[in-house]
Amino acid sequence: MNAKSLPTATHQMGHDVGGLDVAAIRQDFPLLTTPFHGKPMVYLDSAVSGQIPQIVIERMDHYQRFEHTNVHRGVSTLSQEATDRFEEAREKVRGFLNAASTKEIIWTRGTTEAINLVAQTWGRTNIHPGDEILLSAMEHHANIVPWQMLAAEKGATIRVLPMNDAGELLLEDLDALLTPRTKFLGLIQVSNVLGTINPVKEIIAKAHAKGVCVLVDGAQSVPHLAVDVQDLDADFFVFSGHKLSGPTGIGVLYGKKALLEKMPPWQGGGSMILAVSWEKTTYIGLPGKFEAGTPAITQAIGLGAAIDYLQGIGLERIAAYEQQLLTYATAQLSKIEGLRIIGTAHEKASVISFVLDSIHPHDVGSILDHEGIVVRAGHHCAQPVMQRMGVPATTRASFAYYNTKEDVDALVAGILKVKEIFG
Ligand code: ALA
Repeated sequence: MNAKSLPTATHQMGHDVGGLDVAAIRQDFPLLTTPFHGKPMVYLDSAVSGQIPQIVIERMDHYQRFEHTNVHRGVSTLSQEATDRFEEAREKVRGFLNAASTKEIIWTRGTTEAINLVAQTWGRTNIHPGDEILLSAMEHHANIVPWQMLAAEKGATIRVLPMNDAGELLLEDLDALLTPRTKFLGLIQVSNVLGTINPVKEIIAKAHAKGVCVLVDGAQSVPHLAVDVQDLDADFFVFSGHKLSGPTGIGVLYGKKALLEKMPPWQGGGSMILAVSWEKTTYIGLPGKFEAGTPAITQAIGLGAAIDYLQGIGLERIAAYEQQLLTYATAQLSKIEGLRIIGTAHEKASVISFVLDSIHPHDVGSILDHEGIVVRAGHHCAQPVMQRMGVPATTRASFAYYNTKEDVDALVAGILKVKEIFG
């Protein structure tokens, strides 16, 4: 590759509706085609981090070799072109979420930083003593801890929207929990543990009817569902690039312009200022007001390339294919004696948590690892979900568009081996 040649897709998509040419897709992922512990790699941990296709890796490599300097600084052509590439990536995110404007797209390090930004700016301004912050029972720690910190600082109270044994939110409790004191609702769109797809549009409408601001954690939904923030009417929507076949170190805060404009800046420093003197500093407008310091330029461009890649395959096609995999995997795993799936909601994304007899999930995960099968074992950064479901931990298999039925079969064979070892 030289300075003139940008990476281009290595294969063309053109398949049956609802189907994917997964064999061709897998060729785009160096890691998936490299043996692991001497066995074929079976990567079933996309909820922890998605694998990155070659074209995204090459796009970041190309930027670093031939296009890199800092952005929003300097008059050099190099700097202007780097800024153009960086801002083009922001426009790709805007289109991906169907936001009204790129002013509503703030780069962050990831979902966690985006939520902390909202808690520390919108939250500090709008949450007062005696106010209530409502969170769903299936939130990730990232959408719990920043609000607990804020509540402790402000003298506010955290309340919880409960769920049933299947892992579905009890919407009938929502009206009573949206009290005149409720100022904020934090809601995960897809549970990283249970796979539940929450009816966020309906919940947002109910919250808005009571004047409550809503943040949607989309970290686990954007890899599986097409998201339209205007249709959802989300006030804030956050996600991480690395769950979306992009790199780590980059994420997004979407916020409605009217809200972002009223919020004070969070981190101060270069790039976010209009003028600085010893007496006073003034700030630039959106989105730069929230982007102090040199941003993750390579990663933003990589995320833009990942969005191109996924849109090239088709998000609806991905969703349909993953549903087929989920149905097959659920049926196969359910046949294993002693295996209990944790999270059996009617609406699910391709995430399956389970417990197996009384074998600790860490043992299950370690034995599967030796079979070349990568899963996650533990509390998945969601200890309140474990407490609600009455388990200390689960083993979790999460499926993406590059997984196959053969991966599911390998998982089943691996679990049977675990059972054999533990007798
Ligand atoms: N939130 C990530 C997971 O569920 C880390 O694994």
